[in-house]
Amino acid sequence: MKKVRKAVFPVAGMGTRFLPATKAAPKEMLPIVDKPLIQFAVEEAVAAGITDMVFVTGRSKRSIEDHFDKAYELESELEARGKHEMLEFVRNMIPKNINCIYIRQAEALGLGHAVLCAKPVIGDEPFAVILADDLLDGKPAVMKQMTDTYDYYRCSVLGVQDVPRADTRSYGIVDARAVADRVEQINAIVEKPKPEDAPSTLAVVGRYILTPRIFHHLENVKPGAGGEIQLTDGIASLLSEEQVLAYRYDGTRYDCGSKLGYLQATVVFGQRHPEVGPAFDAYLKSLGG
Ligand code: G1P
Repeated sequence: MKKVRKAVFPVAGMGTRFLPATKAAPKEMLPIVDKPLIQFAVEEAVAAGITDMVFVTGRSKRSIEDHFDKAYELESELEARGKHEMLEFVRNMIPKNINCIYIRQAEALGLGHAVLCAKPVIGDEPFAVILADDLLDGKPAVMKQMTDTYDYYRCSVLGVQDVPRADTRSYGIVDARAVADRVEQINAIVEKPKPEDAPSTLAVVGRYILTPRIFHHLENVKPGAGGEIQLTDGIASLLSEEQVLAYRYDGTRYDCGSKLGYLQATVVFGQRHPEVGPAFDAYLKSLGG
């Protein structure tokens, strides 16, 4: 029985919605208070027992690689200055047993193409896909909820939530029927339908567990919405031969690909922050909001 041990992080996107901040820096490195989005994503994978982190990167994403590397200069500087607490923190950012693997996506041909780039590293195993700009706050971690669901049903699982009908054109939308608490069986999936064409308002968020059979389908899909190789189209094709489930995760999603979602996450995580939380909370109250 194969466990989900590997996660793919597609991080080659341009991040145009956050220009000029993302002109030279990856959007996945934008911090929520003091932690970059990509680190939240990796921590969620770690909480689900995943050990191999596969980043599909592109141009100007070097800082992601540096972020998860040993930082010799920084460590010796902190040591010299006697900042032992910070040193331990930097050294233990991710557990020792975690492997970080980097693959370059030479051309940005779409999310489906990015996932297909990871095929040589994934091989014949089920794997997770995590989109770091969807920050999911759940207890247990949303990916852990999903690997538990995978362990039970042994098929692909997509994280979903209801969205307003007007927003369907921002998401993959599923047509599904409930089979258990939080679990639905998907009949169809379509990428970014117009509200009037959407089969439902149940939207895929940036969390997937996929069987390796997805690669076969991604190799054969034609460019879809936006002229890109869409993961959604690969999943639609996978549905012809395998069961795919939708899982209504327990938690809160912050769409950190949008400025509003990013600000909301910053406020919530700021209020909770062990160092600045109480002062920040008092400040918000003083604004009378
Ligand atoms: C991608 C997927 C879409 C999914 C969304 C979740 O779209 O293509 O199916 O619903 O992520 O965030 P993007 O937001 O990259 O345009």
